[in-house]
Amino acid sequence: MARRLDIRQVGLMLLAVACACCVVQARFRQPSEEYAARRTKLRASVDGPIVVVGYTGHEDASEVAIFFQEPHFYYLTGHDEPGAVLLLTPDEPNSGAQASTPAEVLYLPPRNPAQEKWEGPKIGPDDPGVQEKTGFANVEPIANLKGDLAKLADTYKTFYTLMPPKNEEGYPHLTNSVAEIRDAIPHTTLKDIAPALDALRQVKSDGELALMQKAIDVSMDAQFDAMRRMRPGLFEYQVAARMKEIHEMGGCAREAYSPIVGAGFNSTVLHYSALDSEIKDGDLVVMDVGGEYGGYAADITRTVPANGKFTARQREIYDIVLGAQNAAMAAVKPGAVLYGAKGSLQAIVTDYINTHGHDKEGHTLGRYYPHGVSHHLGLDVHDPGDRNRPLEAGMVVTVEPGIYIPEENLGVRIEDDVLVTKDGYRLLTARLPRTADEIEKIMAEGKTAATQ
Ligand code: GLY
Ligand code: MN
Ligand code: MN
Repeated sequence: MARRLDIRQVGLMLLAVACACCVVQARFRQPSEEYAARRTKLRASVDGPIVVVGYTGHEDASEVAIFFQEPHFYYLTGHDEPGAVLLLTPDEPNSGAQASTPAEVLYLPPRNPAQEKWEGPKIGPDDPGVQEKTGFANVEPIANLKGDLAKLADTYKTFYTLMPPKNEEGYPHLTNSVAEIRDAIPHTTLKDIAPALDALRQVKSDGELALMQKAIDVSMDAQFDAMRRMRPGLFEYQVAARMKEIHEMGGCAREAYSPIVGAGFNSTVLHYSALDSEIKDGDLVVMDVGGEYGGYAADITRTVPANGKFTARQREIYDIVLGAQNAAMAAVKPGAVLYGAKGSLQAIVTDYINTHGHDKEGHTLGRYYPHGVSHHLGLDVHDPGDRNRPLEAGMVVTVEPGIYIPEENLGVRIEDDVLVTKDGYRLLTARLPRTADEIEKIMAEGKTAATQ
């Protein structure tokens, strides 16, 4: 039987729906010229128009969803509102004919005053000053996009966009946007712009590096605090909660990824996320927790003994992981590779782990290192791009070896973030100690402070 709702209940329901679609300015814009320079580079790299479709705001229907822009679109525009599309056209049409649209156009949805009552003002295509606000000389209503694409298709037979992977996981944003583009320009070939865009994103600008350092600084503060407060009897979620609080108080809009705080056996589960166990005396605790600041991710792991003192066996394994990390870091410089070749960071770590220590059966330890040593870091925690591309100055990568021995309830990962410089690397996480002695010292200081 249907229940009658009074006006207050209707109001609360509407508020809940509205909150689910709230727009939070989670990212900090770089100067407009920086986005324009990225677009110029991308336009120069291909011979056809490029269409990049921003998120619609309907990607996540959960009650706690907050709009977050599609990262490639954000990288090229700095525009952080739903429903926008970017169209770039090359300077010289390959046919020699004049292109029918300007080199760069940002398409925006019309303003919706009723929705803005709930969510606050948005930028509309007809707003005075929209050019200065967006950094685009040409801003058009989204309704013009289809016709503009159709006209361009008279000149160009190949268009570029972000193509969906074979099995697009989660909300099918790319599948949907490609279907709409195909509908507008059915007799053209669509090619993937992701490789060119990924390659640009792998090399960071000074502005991006400043935001990344801020994310890393706040995340290091949280790791220090967790070391100082660590005790048997705490629950994993309590450790994570405090770390998240420090991130948020430091200005992070959200976590860069779901926090991993795993004690005992859970320390051996690579992406452990339940966080529901009590931390016991004698456990090792893996804390892989990083915040996201201004849109940029930190990715940091420290492994600590719950009671403040590593056992001899824990320290033995810890020191092997640290030795492997030091060996890999020493190889970071322009030209080095993460994977594949002999001398790659992955090969260095695997060799190191396989030539140090044993399990209880006397086997070498390589079998307990089941993941990759490194990934690029940026707007995404696992920033996209070719992981076999030789390193270049301006790239930021993690170095994160680990050994996980489930039968001993013993997992260790140490993860740091490094900037490749022209003659080596800079450790962006240098302020956060990595040796077992230093960690024990910080934990001892934390205990003393707690008893005073
Ligand atoms: N925190 C996820 C990773 O280290 O790749
Ligand atoms: Mn990582
Ligand atoms: Mn990590």
